[in-house]
Amino acid sequence: MTTKYKCNTKSRALVFPGSDLEIMAEEEDQVGVAGSCSQRTQIGIATSPSHSLHDWHALPLADRPRLVDVRSEEAFQARRLVSSINLPIDDLVNLLFELPEPSVGLAIVATNLEEGENAVKLLDSRYWHCIPFIFVEDESEENSVLWRSAATLRLLTSGQISPQDRRIIYTPNPFLVSHIDFVEESLAETHLVSSSQSFYTCCDVGCGAGRDSVWLAKRGRGWLVRCVDRLPRCLDRVQRLACRHGVSNLIECETSLVRGARVHSSSTSPSFETRKYDLVLAIRFFEREFLTSLGEMVRPGGGFLLLVSFVAREDGVAYEHPKDPKKVLLAGELVQVFGTGGMGFETVENCSQILPDGRVMSAYLARRL
Ligand SMILES: C[S@@+](CC[C@H](N)C(=O)[O-])C[C@H]1O[C@@H](n2cnc3c(N)ncnc32)[C@H](O)[C@@H]1O
Repeated sequence: MTTKYKCNTKSRALVFPGSDLEIMAEEEDQVGVAGSCSQRTQIGIATSPSHSLHDWHALPLADRPRLVDVRSEEAFQARRLVSSINLPIDDLVNLLFELPEPSVGLAIVATNLEEGENAVKLLDSRYWHCIPFIFVEDESEENSVLWRSAATLRLLTSGQISPQDRRIIYTPNPFLVSHIDFVEESLAETHLVSSSQSFYTCCDVGCGAGRDSVWLAKRGRGWLVRCVDRLPRCLDRVQRLACRHGVSNLIECETSLVRGARVHSSSTSPSFETRKYDLVLAIRFFEREFLTSLGEMVRPGGGFLLLVSFVAREDGVAYEHPKDPKKVLLAGELVQVFGTGGMGFETVENCSQILPDGRVMSAYLARRL
């Protein structure tokens, strides 16, 4: 696909991954700008918002950059593009964890070019390099080319949006996403949700910003999630994310440090590892001495353990991160500990994924009998 753009000295080039760029410079000295832009395969500024919105819409659905509206909440409620999410520019820096990974393309909706450029600058500095469009209101609401184009393309919507209805555009852990239906169906079959227990319970150990936990709570299938992390700032993010998405009542946070087999908790009530859960998550959190405790936290009679962690390469080459070999699984270790180690688990899935940088992750799901 070839994308055509007019360029001036302020423009940066707009490139879709895998596309050719043809830049139309109006004056000779602008060609140099265009050239350096295209070499950087960087984001840039569309000179015609209406043209850009049509371009965006013409892309196959799966390739369309995700729409991030950086205008105020009020402006967003009043008028917006269908399927856009609202991360107001004033708070954008604190909400970056709501975005998909940096390789995913983003399109910015802004009040004006300056606001759009500021958003791009911030995202660019945090490695979201592939932002092919900035759409701007720029004129009065009625005259805005953007909104007229949106109406033509049936992309215009408006109205209050509740936190529950707020969209998630990041991707939770893919192994969790691909197995959650099975886990829920299986829990339902084993009647773990009875009239006395109206929620499925999950503990997300080393939850980070809580993207998996909030996604789980937001599924609306009755998950109550305990989020555990050693860093209070991570748990602040979890609470913020949960609040923005209207699931604060389904998320409990606990600051705890796992050291070896022991837990140092700031909680006054019994700490997380003393309870049983329908699902225990440890995604990119690994403490070898704590593996058995993770298993013991799973409710016997059908509960699940889902672990995703780095595993040592077969060729023995050490990773740059995690550096410490103790923080890396050995091949077959999880099956050994849980599947055949007498803890009463049956392995549901045990697979490995090779990341683009060559690191290998082990993804393991087991059910406690
Ligand atoms: C790589 S992040 C993964 C976060 C999340 N599970 C995810 O996949 O997005 C690991 C998280 O585990 C937490 N963590 C690491 N070691 C820990 C420990 N010993 N005790 C408690 N939390 C820990 C870190 O603070 C961090 O938030």
